[in-house]
Amino acid sequence: MQRNPILRVEGLRTTFTSDDGEVVAVDDVSFDVNEGEIVGLIGESGSGKSVTALAVMGLLPKTTSHVTAERIMFDGRDLAHASERELRRLRGGSIGMIFQEPMSSLNPVLKIGDQLIEPIRIHERISYRAAFDRGVELLTKVGIPSPVQRMNDYPHQLSGGMRQRVMIAIALSCSPKLLLADEPTTALDVTIQAQLLDLLLEIQAETKMAIVLITHSMGVIAECADKVVVMYSGRIAEQGPVTEIFDRPGHPYTKGLMQCTPELTGNSRRLTTIPGTLPSLSALPPGCRFAPRCDLAQPDCVAGRPPMIAIGKEHASACIRADELVVSAAQPEGAEV
Ligand SMILES: Nc1ncnc2c1ncn2[C@@H]1O[C@H](COP(=O)(O)OP(=O)(O)OP(=O)(O)O)[C@@H](O)[C@H]1O
Ligand SMILES: [Mg+2]
Repeated sequence: MQRNPILRVEGLRTTFTSDDGEVVAVDDVSFDVNEGEIVGLIGESGSGKSVTALAVMGLLPKTTSHVTAERIMFDGRDLAHASERELRRLRGGSIGMIFQEPMSSLNPVLKIGDQLIEPIRIHERISYRAAFDRGVELLTKVGIPSPVQRMNDYPHQLSGGMRQRVMIAIALSCSPKLLLADEPTTALDVTIQAQLLDLLLEIQAETKMAIVLITHSMGVIAECADKVVVMYSGRIAEQGPVTEIFDRPGHPYTKGLMQCTPELTGNSRRLTTIPGTLPSLSALPPGCRFAPRCDLAQPDCVAGRPPMIAIGKEHASACIRADELVVSAAQPEGAEV
């Protein structure tokens, strides 16, 4: 079935002004999210995942950041050139968001109920009573016991997992077409993480909203996503359908991430880590930014920015050796490159 993009990001670039001068945190990032699709955005800490999501929503601080894009098409509108008013109307309306830090995203001095009711009333202009009932319905949907009582609680009266459920309820309150979920479960223990992911998947199956799911975990991607966008140091290293990428990773960085994931290797003793760290934004290496950490690097890798090479249907990698990698992945039994 051919699905249409609900979000199309083209040539997104974000710079920050810091003491070291201007740094480029997101550099020419393009990807599509189709209607009803879950797209995983993965990469190590600092790779630009949150900045990408915040830039799309127009939520970065105007004083220290500068966002440009050829286009950011959402549901027929170009967010890259939308007014602040239009963006505000979309946020919490057609686009829901769950942020990385639930503690700081809920207002500590407002009751849960008021935080749920406010966006509903702003976006739908319905009575307080109707919005209250909707709030209770949403809390029930996200699995919060005694929802009517909970409407009167303050965030500190809830556990971390419950607070994140409230965040999900708020994000869903206006039936968004797209949900941006930035590490919605990272701060929670593993059992709660799994429960919340299941909850998100259940709701997605019912509402058919599209989700951009930001995560550190290839395991989460394997479980939830249709497509994956792998980011490294502000750029896209590889993107494509999850099954394609897991069968035939076309970038050494993606391969490295997969080898760090116990659920994927099926053998925790064979787990590896990717040696080295992400480069500083103020001292980015020339050419491929992953080259200093890459076993396969060769002189051409640092000669210039590697182009995105198509290696399958909707599958592309920014590695000049992508073809070799894909071929070796297709070979049986321990074929190493
Ligand atoms: N407001 C800001 N001002 C200056 N630099 C910033 C700002 N926000 C983010 N950055 C820088 O942009 C880069 C990308 O940050 P971002 O928060 O997007 O990473 P991330 O991939 O979301 O990491 P994590 O997995 O830790 O959440 C980092 O180098 C970060 O230091
Ligand atoms: Mg982040």
